[in-house]
Amino acid sequence: MKLKQLEALLGNLQQFSNPKVELEQYPTGPHIASRMLFTAENSFGDVSGKVVADFGCGCGTLGLASALLDAQHVIGVDVDPESLEIASENAEDLEVDIDLLQCDIKNLGWTGQIVDTVVMNPPFGTRRKGADMDFLFVALQVASQAVYSLHKTTTREHIKRSALRDFGACSAEVICELRYDLPQLYKFHKKKEVDIAVDLWRFVPRTN
Ligand SMILES: C[S@@+](CC[C@H](N)C(=O)[O-])C[C@H]1O[C@@H](n2cnc3c(N)ncnc32)[C@H](O)[C@@H]1O
Repeated sequence: MKLKQLEALLGNLQQFSNPKVELEQYPTGPHIASRMLFTAENSFGDVSGKVVADFGCGCGTLGLASALLDAQHVIGVDVDPESLEIASENAEDLEVDIDLLQCDIKNLGWTGQIVDTVVMNPPFGTRRKGADMDFLFVALQVASQAVYSLHKTTTREHIKRSALRDFGACSAEVICELRYDLPQLYKFHKKKEVDIAVDLWRFVPRTN
């Protein structure tokens, strides 16, 4: 599938109808999501034929993009049942199969490296401190091949140190820095759009 085609399909997905501020629910836009998955596939071979988990899948954008790029199996995990319903409708509309699991990432309880790749746009940790690190910790325990994740550029040194020193990653590389336009979803956002700098990371988990 071509990049533009992927971006167009992701642009038609339903997104959060009633975003929950405490869960930091904002979608990954089609421009960023398509490039994130396209890079994972075309530069690193981490999607096609692989078992991919989308942590904090929300309405399913990253997991669905993986399915469209021929992942062998996709599992989306989110704590919020309303988002999972939307993700399920999106999968039906695209005629792709993904499994959806309602679970808090901290209680996932998967043991061993049972997926190849994790893709995620976790909460930035602005509402609940450390939420981003909970996601990264679990992702690096369960993926055997790679973890792709978006984090605020201001946290770059902290993310790198934690991944390499505390979570056992073999490598932690910023693939690119992106401008992330948060739509004005919440009343405390004063401007129409909140433009922040975000890093797209690729982590390689330790080999067991
Ligand atoms: C920034 S949104 C990203 C949504 C979607 N992945 C996307 O890229 O459009 C973060 C997602 O993480 C979910 N989430 C927040 N805390 C969670 C937790 N502790 N366990 C599982 N999911 C969580 C939210 O419900 C939300 O869907």
